[in-house]
Amino acid sequence: MVFYFTGTGNSLYVAKRLDEDLRSIPQAIHGEKQVYKAEKIGIVCPVYGHEMPGMVKDFLKKAVFQSEYLFVVLTYGNIHGGAAELAEKELKASGKKADYINTILMVDNFLPGFDMKEQLALEPEKKVEEHIAELKRDVDARRHWIQPAAEEDRNWHQVYLKRRENIQKESGKTIYQVTENCIGCGICTRVCPAGCIHLEKQKAVHTAENCQMCMACIHHCPENAVRLRIPEKNPNARYHNEHVRLTEIVRGNNQLP
Ligand SMILES: Cc1cc2nc3c(=O)[nH]c(=O)nc-3n(C[C@H](O)[C@H](O)[C@H](O)COP(=O)(O)O)c2cc1C
Ligand code: SF4
Ligand code: SF4
Repeated sequence: MVFYFTGTGNSLYVAKRLDEDLRSIPQAIHGEKQVYKAEKIGIVCPVYGHEMPGMVKDFLKKAVFQSEYLFVVLTYGNIHGGAAELAEKELKASGKKADYINTILMVDNFLPGFDMKEQLALEPEKKVEEHIAELKRDVDARRHWIQPAAEEDRNWHQVYLKRRENIQKESGKTIYQVTENCIGCGICTRVCPAGCIHLEKQKAVHTAENCQMCMACIHHCPENAVRLRIPEKNPNARYHNEHVRLTEIVRGNNQLP
């Protein structure tokens, strides 16, 4: 049984390769019964600022896992910043002990930092398929291992925390804007794992409350009508994992009736 959270499909792709019994965290988090029993339980999600997304942390606090083996795989695009160590702390805080935590380098979907065209060109160097095969071998063999953090990783995390503070100060509450190109198709409302977007007069409207910063609304807009208020490296380039269909993202994330 693998629980996943995804904005642009990387984490869902890895989850699909590791197990067939997939559970979306944005759906599971609403369940009344939060007790899960399986031989092996996994969590696969991206790192945001080297940490697990807020919704994943909330889910971990609610869920009870009855399992012999608990593993976590964190997808990231550039610097993991000691993500495994940070996730281990998070799990401990919610009363859980992970047997295995590892990271995997994939395309970085963080638009203020990266041009998606350049990221796609770099993808082959990241050897994603080889690394997924290694993860699968580890998990199948129930390997016990937590990826260690170096001092440099911890320093990166501190740098990030400072930068995030500044971004929040500069941008105010919502960092998204919808341009006149919006055709009211509603895709952004359905890929949002947190139900932050609705249509008003056939235009998408964002609310900041509970936003996970997953950037699914931006990357999946067919008209490229969602922009960040802060500078983007390339506002015309968007990304989604080629092995994951839009319908799969919608199925996992949709919060609308
Ligand atoms: C808000 C945000 C913060 C991110 N922070 C980091 C980070 O600290 N380090 C990193 O290497 N990648 C970071 N990324 C990139 C994602 O972790 C990476 O692209 C991930 O594979 C996306 O997964 P998904 O396709 O399942 O959504 C960030 C992305 C977003 C949207
Ligand atoms: S996905 Fe884009 S075009 Fe469609 S409603 Fe959202 S902002 Fe508008
Ligand atoms: S508003 Fe956009 S960035 Fe925020 S949670 Fe929804 S899809 Fe993700």
